[in-house]
Amino acid sequence: MLNLRNISKVFGGTDDGLASVPAVENISIDVRAGEFFSIIGPSGCGKSTLLRIIGGLIPATGGELTVAGETVKGPHRSIAMVFQEESTFPWRTTLGNVEFGLEMHGVGHAERRQKAVEMIRLVGLSEFEKRYPSELSGGMRQRVAIARALILEPKILLMDEPFGALDEQTRIILGEELLKIRDALNQTIIFVTHNINESVQLSDRVLVMTARPGKIKTMVEIDLPHPRDSSIIASDRFGRLVGQVWSALREESIRSFRQTEQGH
Ligand SMILES: Nc1ncnc2c1ncn2[C@@H]1O[C@H](COP(=O)(O)OP(=O)(O)O)[C@@H](O)[C@H]1O
Ligand SMILES: [Mg+2]
Repeated sequence: MLNLRNISKVFGGTDDGLASVPAVENISIDVRAGEFFSIIGPSGCGKSTLLRIIGGLIPATGGELTVAGETVKGPHRSIAMVFQEESTFPWRTTLGNVEFGLEMHGVGHAERRQKAVEMIRLVGLSEFEKRYPSELSGGMRQRVAIARALILEPKILLMDEPFGALDEQTRIILGEELLKIRDALNQTIIFVTHNINESVQLSDRVLVMTARPGKIKTMVEIDLPHPRDSSIIASDRFGRLVGQVWSALREESIRSFRQTEQGH
């Protein structure tokens, strides 16, 4: 579904007088249709950069990227993105927010209303259709943001620490909801997180990145059964997988911590 070949990104260093920053180096991955694929790595290692390249929001400086066989050169209808920060319009209700993308694409009123109602049901917010974001909890607002992205029927949903601002319990429950949606739509999801438990709870595979410049450290197969709910967290297998991700990540986190302490 998604193929990355030797993707690299270097920021700056041309005519702005600043030193160039290599952010991502030589990443090659193949994500299968319907896969839940997570990317984890130390803070500042290039996770968001990689996701923004996949979403066509910024160009790579090297390598090639294809979605369902088509080369990605800019924003792409088959890819939608959900960010960590709030991305709902405060002046629109849940319905208005979820309908927004279809409105932009000129879809008629009746059709977009019907699709929005269905998508809102899928994220469990039917009772809150007429509420404004300020009347919803943080977790509910992120569900609105997810519905808003999914209504465009993207082949791939990109999520950049979408639950990062939420408390642990809400994060776990919302993760469980996201897996149900994934199963219902057979959606392909690429999910950036710095939370190890979350990466194991949700994923089919976890890509562990090195400290900056972000390269592939290792790939961990999460061979936990589907459908999966959050009770899996209590299992020995879950604990072993968390340990496996952490042992790959530990050295890189220490390296990243030292880099930051030295101010570069
Ligand atoms: N627009 C930009 N210009 C210059 N440097 C950038 C830009 N965006 C990100 N960087 C740098 O690239 C590195 C990776 O950033 P980012 O992808 O945001 O990391 P992460 O999401 O893993 O925390 C950081 O060192 C960051 O300072
Ligand atoms: Mg980031």
